[in-house]
Amino acid sequence: MLRPNGFRILCISLANLLAGIAEAAFLVISTGIALGVTASDSSLEIFSRFNMGITTSLWVAGAFIFAKFTLGTIALWLQSGLTETVVVNQRLKITELYFGATWEAQQDAPTGHLQHLLLGFSQEISGLLNSFNQGLSSMLSLLALIGVALFVDPFSTLIAGFALLILGIALSPIRKAIAQRSKRTASSQLDFAHGIAEYSSLGISIQSYGVSEPVKQNLGRLLKVEGKARRKMEFTLQAITPVYIASAYVFILIALSIVSRNETMSLDKIGPVALLMLRGLTYGQSVYFFLAMKRAMTGTFEQLNSTMNFYSRNKLRTGLEEVTGFDSLVFDDVTFSHENGTEIVKNASFSMQYGEILGLSGESGSGKTTILELICGLRSPNNGCILVNKTDLELINLNSWQKKYSLVTQEPRLISGSATENIKFFRENISIGDIEQAAQDALYLSDTSTHLNNLEMHQIGEGGSQLSGGQKQRLSLARALASNPPLLLLDEPTASLDIESEEKICETLNNLRGKVSILIVSHSKNVLKICDRIIYLKGGSITSTDSNSESE
Ligand SMILES: Nc1ncnc2c1ncn2[C@@H]1O[C@H](COP(=O)(O)OP(=O)(O)O)[C@@H](O)[C@H]1O
Ligand SMILES: [Mg+2]
Repeated sequence: MLRPNGFRILCISLANLLAGIAEAAFLVISTGIALGVTASDSSLEIFSRFNMGITTSLWVAGAFIFAKFTLGTIALWLQSGLTETVVVNQRLKITELYFGATWEAQQDAPTGHLQHLLLGFSQEISGLLNSFNQGLSSMLSLLALIGVALFVDPFSTLIAGFALLILGIALSPIRKAIAQRSKRTASSQLDFAHGIAEYSSLGISIQSYGVSEPVKQNLGRLLKVEGKARRKMEFTLQAITPVYIASAYVFILIALSIVSRNETMSLDKIGPVALLMLRGLTYGQSVYFFLAMKRAMTGTFEQLNSTMNFYSRNKLRTGLEEVTGFDSLVFDDVTFSHENGTEIVKNASFSMQYGEILGLSGESGSGKTTILELICGLRSPNNGCILVNKTDLELINLNSWQKKYSLVTQEPRLISGSATENIKFFRENISIGDIEQAAQDALYLSDTSTHLNNLEMHQIGEGGSQLSGGQKQRLSLARALASNPPLLLLDEPTASLDIESEEKICETLNNLRGKVSILIVSHSKNVLKICDRIIYLKGGSITSTDSNSESE
């Protein structure tokens, strides 16, 4: 995650290192001044090497404070930039992987997970990076302090360094426990995100069945599990600090008892070294806290990686051949089954020529929608092949194929915005004239509800919540017609319409006869009447194909 930011990290490290050196120098000089003043010396020996007057020393110490502040601020500024870049890039990467994945993979991912990944996880990463920055700056300051302390008194410094190392090793079981607890926290967070996303989409059903109470209880349970797991992890994470401090103090006591027995130590050495060591211990605390924080992200990182791997593994693969028009569609002995193994489409063979209106009928669950999804390239057959213009769909560039058909799904999927935006549906090349024509052909415009006629201004609400079922269906049909594609795939497009509207839609489709090809899934006699041929499905197998004499 940090790899592409090497240069920036180098700059941050450098600024922190210099700031650390400046601080260490300040500490040494100021203890020197204090000792000098108590011994009433007019000149000081700094680092046991340089002789300076007290006034000069004060100025030099001031300069070091200024340097530490300036360098520290520069490092902070660079650090916040690093956090921003990493979080934005990570989010872009997940979004890109998600939209680059197959529709099946997108569908399989539990609701709410992507949102959780994009919002919650990114925030956690930002928290971790801040602690990384602090850890890095403390680490470098610590190194600087140790360097300066070595200069003053190598022996005591080595002992203190050794103590820090022992402390780090002693804290490692706690870090392991944090990692374990973090996994539990992250998975309970995902469960909660999934629960809230799923339940909140139920809306009217919860109200009309009067089940708000049990739904609230279910969510409450998920929340409590999450809360408990998080508390355990937070407790262990925060425990790092008191454990560290208590152990560090014990080491100080031990060090003092050793020093008190060593009569060769002089005060001008012990003073600065003790101050450096105390400061070093606080830096050490911040380094160890970052290491613990990193463990606290174990669960989050594992989920992030497994989600990203899942989407990368299920990347949408597409052929290279461009489709320039639509001549024919052939299903050659196509079999399709879902991951659970049940065959949904069995040895289906049929063909369709340009200009035809083909009906697809059969009982619910017989595989009609699945056949449309196979034609769209949203699913791939397990056996047999689908030929578009005599070319295997696997070899065709899906993007070029998508431009040749329009699919009206069984459940209209609308976006919040105006009717115009819904008909246009992110396709900038569709003109306002085409939009109006499509709205008219799909009977979206209305004699009675005049507000509907203002395509541009009328906001239809989230998911079309301000429209009736029939109006949503007509708007979906208008979206499909607007790009004038050579192939229309319609999945029960009149299921929510009254007989009169259905007849008018059939008239529109009939008028398109010969100009486009239409594959229409329906149970309605009216709709099937306009079809040139009808394929009947039962349990995924084609049972009969009728030539429709009534349409002749
Ligand atoms: N993701 C899935 N995993 C397993 N089975 C599925 C999945 N989606 C749909 N099915 C099954 O596939 C069958 C055909 O579904 P579908 O094509 O939507 O039927 P139709 O449109 O004819 O009503 C149904 O029996 C359904 O239970
Ligand atoms: Mg269906």
